[in-house]
Amino acid sequence: MPEPNSMPRARNSSTAPLNSRRPQAPSARQSRPTVTISGTASQESPRTLLELNRAISAARPLVPGAMHAVLGEGPVGAAIAFVGEQPGDQEDLQGRPFVGPAGQLLNRAMSEAGIDRNRSYLTNAVKHFKFEQRGKRRIHQKPTAGEVRHYRWWLDKELTLVHPRLIVALGATAVLALAGKALPIARFRGKADFAGRLGYITVHPSFLLRIPDAEAKRQAYEGFVADLRAIRALVRSPIARQAL
Ligand code: URA
Repeated sequence: MPEPNSMPRARNSSTAPLNSRRPQAPSARQSRPTVTISGTASQESPRTLLELNRAISAARPLVPGAMHAVLGEGPVGAAIAFVGEQPGDQEDLQGRPFVGPAGQLLNRAMSEAGIDRNRSYLTNAVKHFKFEQRGKRRIHQKPTAGEVRHYRWWLDKELTLVHPRLIVALGATAVLALAGKALPIARFRGKADFAGRLGYITVHPSFLLRIPDAEAKRQAYEGFVADLRAIRALVRSPIARQAL
């Protein structure tokens, strides 16, 4: 987040734990913004999710184009926080996370696994939609590692304020943001430790949407629902309660 007095230089933080570094956000390529909180210019770190969200909304996208920042959604204190990659076209238009096709698939899988979306927290590693314009269509572009680093301070602050018992990384970009390094999903799928926070690594729902073969898609979807069931069990287990 743009915290003017303490923003770091842009350096390689790919192996650093999530919460070990101060914001890198709009510093590297933009002048340091003054964050305005509650109508007054503030140099302070946000103390509430509302303050943080105001700061995120006030920041310009690192890569120009997005209509606005898409903020996390869900209650503070939610037991589970789901972290995706970045908002897509629909999310950017509607200003809400996971409302497009991937979000609809996630909703379906969550409901099959007995996880209530309204009681969960959903957010993204990167807060702005990056795309390439092709005619009328806005085609999603995967964020670079540098862009993921740029938004990491915000994500860490957000998760500190929401304080979930379990953080779910949906796909490789979320893993990079949460673990501070790239970990192959096929090998690390399952329970994880994100810089001392209880985590779980699974695939991104858009990966399921892209599988061309119907039977392979069905199996991958079943695997995703099985992960969500495991997540539901894990968050109710003594391990997650100790994490509080
Ligand atoms: N994909 C994501 O990673 N996040 C969203 O909010 C939507 C699609």
